[in-house]
Amino acid sequence: MKLILLGPPGAGKGTQAAKIAERYSLAHISTGDMLRAEIASETPLGMKAKALIEAGELVPDEIITGMVENRIHMDDCVNGFLLDGFPRTIAQAESLLEFSDVDRAVCITVPDEEIIGRMAKRRVCPGCRRTYSIDPEHEQFYCTECGARLVTRDDDKPETVRHRLSVYAEQTLPLVEFFRERDLLSEVDGCGTVDEVAESIFDLFESKAPECECPGSEDL
Ligand code: AP5
Repeated sequence: MKLILLGPPGAGKGTQAAKIAERYSLAHISTGDMLRAEIASETPLGMKAKALIEAGELVPDEIITGMVENRIHMDDCVNGFLLDGFPRTIAQAESLLEFSDVDRAVCITVPDEEIIGRMAKRRVCPGCRRTYSIDPEHEQFYCTECGARLVTRDDDKPETVRHRLSVYAEQTLPLVEFFRERDLLSEVDGCGTVDEVAESIFDLFESKAPECECPGSEDL
């Protein structure tokens, strides 16, 4: 399967991507994580991306598109891949369809107020990059995997989150129509619990046609 996860910042793409990738043995490709790794390694690409990410702006299409094209040709993508955070513009989507086919784009929808609440609670591990949702009243939290003290992402400040939402509405939301027109779109309500949202996504891929219960149908 070659899947895309769409949705606003904080919709739960990363959270759901980990579950989907595990269930279907797909490579989870998060462009946000790739960029944060470049920043941590202080590469020229990372240095270029840092200020843009912290300001809630998108990184230029040509940088991201080249990165993803290289990534999907790696060995771990032979069973398929799940793109989390790419494409984010029409230009990126057009480039993607030139270098790969796509089976489905799943858009997770969540209202802005819910997103702002989720971002206020998000903390990440600076070591293993695991994401948590915490009670903001208690600031001292440590990663259950590696023990590092959890931190707030630089782009999760409330004013940056609002800007990211407006960038999403302007530049990424048009992709919903883009994929709908190509009959590739599925939409999922992202407002339930993490497990409820995951079940809705799995149902998209696993729902079977209802069995016919007409009398005598077993003789057909
Ligand atoms: P990226 O890291 O991709 O950020 P994003 O798309 O804005 O998404 P987030 O990671 O903020 O949220 P998410 O939807 O993954 O939610 P999560 O699962 O963490 O990109 C960062 C930046 O990099 C961009 O702003 C841009 O600058 C640049 N960039 C990346 N890709 C690019 C591209 N293609 N082109 C150009 N620039 C690019 O969940 C959020 C929180 O909610 C967590 O705390 C989680 O625990 C909690 N949560 C999850 N699900 C639920 C639930 N069902 N109920 C309650 N809480 C939940």
